[in-house]
Amino acid sequence: MHNPSPMTPVGLRCEYFENTLGLDEPQPRLSWQCQRQTAYQIRVVAGWDTGKVVSDASTHVEYRGPALRSRQRYIWQVRVWDADDRPSPWSESAGWEMGLLKRSDWKAKWIGCDTPCPQLRKNFALGSRIARARIYVTALGLYELWINNQRVGADYFTPGWTDYTGRVQYQTYDVTSLLREGGNVLGAIIGGGWFTGAIAWRNERHLYGHPPRLLAQLEVTDDDGRVETIATDASWESAAGPILESDIYNGETYDARRQFGDGGWQPVKIFDAPRVTLNASASPRVRQIQELKPQRMTEPKPGTFVFDLGQNMVGWARLAVNGPAGTTVTLRFAEVLNPDGTIYTTNLRAAKCTDRYTLRGGGTEVYEPRFTFHGFRYVEVTGGKPESVTGVVLHTDIRPTGSFACSHPMLNQLQHNIVWGQKGNFLEVPTDCPQRDERLGWTGDAQVFCRTACFNADVAGFFTKWLADLADAQSTRGAFPMVAPVVWRARSHDGGPAWADAGLICPWTIYLCYGDRRILERHYDAMRRYLDFLDATDYKSRHCFGDWLNIQDDTPKDLIALAFNAHAAQLMIKIAEVSGRKKDAARFRTRLQRAKVEFNREFVTPTGRLVGGSQTAYVLALQFDLLPPAKRRQAAARLVQRIHECKDHLSTGFVGTPYLLHVLQRFGHLDLAYQLLLNEDFPSWGYPIKHGATTMWEHWDGWRHDKGFQDPGMNSFNHYAYGAVGDWMYQTILGIQLDELQPGYKHFFIAPVPGGGLTWARGEYQSIHGPIRSAWKIERGRFALEVTVPGNTTATVQLPGPRQKPRRIGPGSHRFESKL
Ligand code: BGC
Repeated sequence: MHNPSPMTPVGLRCEYFENTLGLDEPQPRLSWQCQRQTAYQIRVVAGWDTGKVVSDASTHVEYRGPALRSRQRYIWQVRVWDADDRPSPWSESAGWEMGLLKRSDWKAKWIGCDTPCPQLRKNFALGSRIARARIYVTALGLYELWINNQRVGADYFTPGWTDYTGRVQYQTYDVTSLLREGGNVLGAIIGGGWFTGAIAWRNERHLYGHPPRLLAQLEVTDDDGRVETIATDASWESAAGPILESDIYNGETYDARRQFGDGGWQPVKIFDAPRVTLNASASPRVRQIQELKPQRMTEPKPGTFVFDLGQNMVGWARLAVNGPAGTTVTLRFAEVLNPDGTIYTTNLRAAKCTDRYTLRGGGTEVYEPRFTFHGFRYVEVTGGKPESVTGVVLHTDIRPTGSFACSHPMLNQLQHNIVWGQKGNFLEVPTDCPQRDERLGWTGDAQVFCRTACFNADVAGFFTKWLADLADAQSTRGAFPMVAPVVWRARSHDGGPAWADAGLICPWTIYLCYGDRRILERHYDAMRRYLDFLDATDYKSRHCFGDWLNIQDDTPKDLIALAFNAHAAQLMIKIAEVSGRKKDAARFRTRLQRAKVEFNREFVTPTGRLVGGSQTAYVLALQFDLLPPAKRRQAAARLVQRIHECKDHLSTGFVGTPYLLHVLQRFGHLDLAYQLLLNEDFPSWGYPIKHGATTMWEHWDGWRHDKGFQDPGMNSFNHYAYGAVGDWMYQTILGIQLDELQPGYKHFFIAPVPGGGLTWARGEYQSIHGPIRSAWKIERGRFALEVTVPGNTTATVQLPGPRQKPRRIGPGSHRFESKL
C-alpha cells in the first residue's frame, strides 16, 4: 500500500500518455503532478536512477538512462522533496513499453489483394502458457484487426493519415487476453481510406497508391520467454466479404447477405516493402467518443425518414433495422435542411456521404460502417423504416481540458459550438471541415485555431503528430504547404502567408501551452529553412489567400504577406532565444527590422493610414507591433472608426479575426471588443447561434434570413476557424493567461477583465500541472474572484478595478474581492 500522502506525486505520464505501448522516442520525457517540489528522484526499474536532483521541474524530464530497447517495458516511479527538504513517499508505478525501434525488428511482409475491403487472415496454433502477446500493426490504407472474433483495441481509422509516400504510423496492442491455447485466427479487414480514396476534391483516386495492404506482426511470449512470431506473409489468405465499397468521402456499401470467405479464400499478394519510415503513433487515436439519440423524426416525403440528432456532429449513424432479406436501406447525411424538411446536401459538393445496407433478413440487424465518416446533424433513411438511428461521434481522443460558462447564454452556446467544431475537425488531423469533399489538414485553419484548441483539450500529442506531417510536407526550398499531410505534392507548395506560417505558429503555441521545448528543438531546422525561404522569396510574388472570407473588406495581399514575414521573424527571435541560439536570434532581429521598415514604407501613408484601410490591415499592424510606438494609438483609433463605419460590426476574415478582440482590448477599446463578441445580428459570432447553429460556420453568412444559403460550392457549417475567438474568452473573461517566460503554466496570470454586462463567469483549464480555476461574480459593485492554482506552480492575480496591485500566489484555492 502506498502512503496516500498529499505530497506523493500523481498523474505520471510518459510523453503525452499515461501508460503506453509501442513508443519509439529514444529519450522519452516523464511528467508528474505534485504539490510543491524543490527536488525529485526518478527510478526506472533495472535501468536508471537519477538520485536526488535539485529542481522544481515536474514536466518533460528527459530519460537519460541506458539506451532503450525494442519491446522492452519500463516501470518507473518518482518522489519529490518539499520546501523543507522532506521527501515524499514514492509514487505509484507507471510504465511505458518500447515499440519496434529498428527496421530489422520487422519480419512481416506487406500483404493485400485486389478485392475491395477484403479480410486477410491466418490460422495458427499456440501452446499453453501464453505469458504475453503484442501485435505491431499498420497498413497502407486502414485496418481493423480481429483475433478469435474479438476486435483488437477500440481505435478507428488506424494507422492514421500521414504522407504515405514517406512515413506510416504503426500501433501496438496488448492482445494477451485474446489468444488461447490451441487454434487461433488472426484477421484484418482493410479499406482504402485516405490511401486510395478520392481525397482532395479532384476526385483523383489512388492518390498515394493502390490497393491497400497490411503489415502485422504478432509476438507471443511463453512462460519460459520463448517467442513465437506470427507475421503477415505468403501463408495468409484473403477473401471478399460484405463491404462492397468504402470511401471516406462517399460512404460505405454493405451487403449483409454476404460473408467473408463465401467465395472462397485465396492466397494473398505480397508487396515490396514501400520506402517509408515506420513510426509509432505519437497522437491519441480516433475513438467512438459519445452517442447521440435523435430528438425527432419527420417524414418530409412518403418513405423518406429524417432523423434530427440536435447537434452537428462527425462520425456515423448506427442503424437498427428489421426487414426482408435483400432490402437495401440507404442513409444520407446533411448538416442542414431545406425549407421543405428534406436534407440539404448541395454543400457536400462531390462527396456522396451515402451508406447503403442490404439486409440479410430475419430479425433486427444492427449496422455501422467502419472506414468512412460523415459530418451531419440529420440522417435521411430511405428503403425501409429503421427501428432506431444513433449518432456515433468519432474523433481523436483528445482529453477535454477546458470549460467556460458565464451569465450570457449566447456565449455559452458559442463555447459549445467551438468545442463541437473542434471535436468534428480533430479526427486524425486538424481539418478545415468534416463533411464536403475536402476534410484536409489546412494549415491556415490550424494555426488560427491552435491556441483555442489548446484550452479546450489536451492536443499536445495530436499536434506533435501533425507537426511531423507538416515537416514531412516542407518543400526543398523551405516552404510549408497549404495542407498537411500533403496531397498533391507538386501543386501545393507554399501555402502562402498565414497558411504556411502554421509551421512556426503551431510549434510555438504547443511550446507555450505545454512547456514542450522538444517540439521547438525538433522543428528548429525546418523553421529556420522556412525563414530562409521567406528571405529568398519576393513577398509580393507569393501566392496568398488574402483575408479569407472577410466581409467586403479585402486587405491587400502584399500587406498580409509582409506582416506575416515580420511575424515569422518575431517568432523565430523568441524560438532562437529559448533554445539558446543567440546568433540566429540576432540575424532574425535584423530581418524583423527590415520587414518593419518596408512595411511602413509600403503600406503606411504619410498621415498614418494603412493602405486599403481594412479592419484586418489595422489589426495585423497592431498585433504584430509593426508601427512605430508613436503611431499605434492613432492606428487603433482608425480601426475603431472603421468598425464604427461597419455599424459596430466586424468585417474580418480568417486572418484578422483571431487577433481582433485582443487588439481592441490592448489599445483600450474593451467595450467595443465585448460589443463585437456579443453582437447577434449579421455579421457576428452571435448571428449563426441566433439561427440555430450548433457548430461554427465557415462563413459569417453561411445562411442568411434574407438571402438563404451561401454559395453551395463553399459552405461548411462546421469549420472551426472563427472559433478562434475562444482563446479571448478564456484569456480575458476568465483571465487565464500563460506566462511566456515560464511556459506550460509553471507560472501564469489570472487577470479577468469583465465587461459586456456579464455578471459572472467561471471556468477551468486542466494544465499539465493540474487544474487552474477562475470563477467570478459581480455583486453590488464588488468583484469577487475565486482562483485555484495547481501544485508546483505560482500565479499572479490582477483584479479589475482601481488601484489593484498584482498579487503573487501559490498552490491552493484563493478568494479575492475588489471594488469596481
Ligand atoms: C478551406 C479553408 C482553407 C481555404 C484556403 C478552403 O477550401 O475549406 O478553410 O483555409 O480553402 O483558402
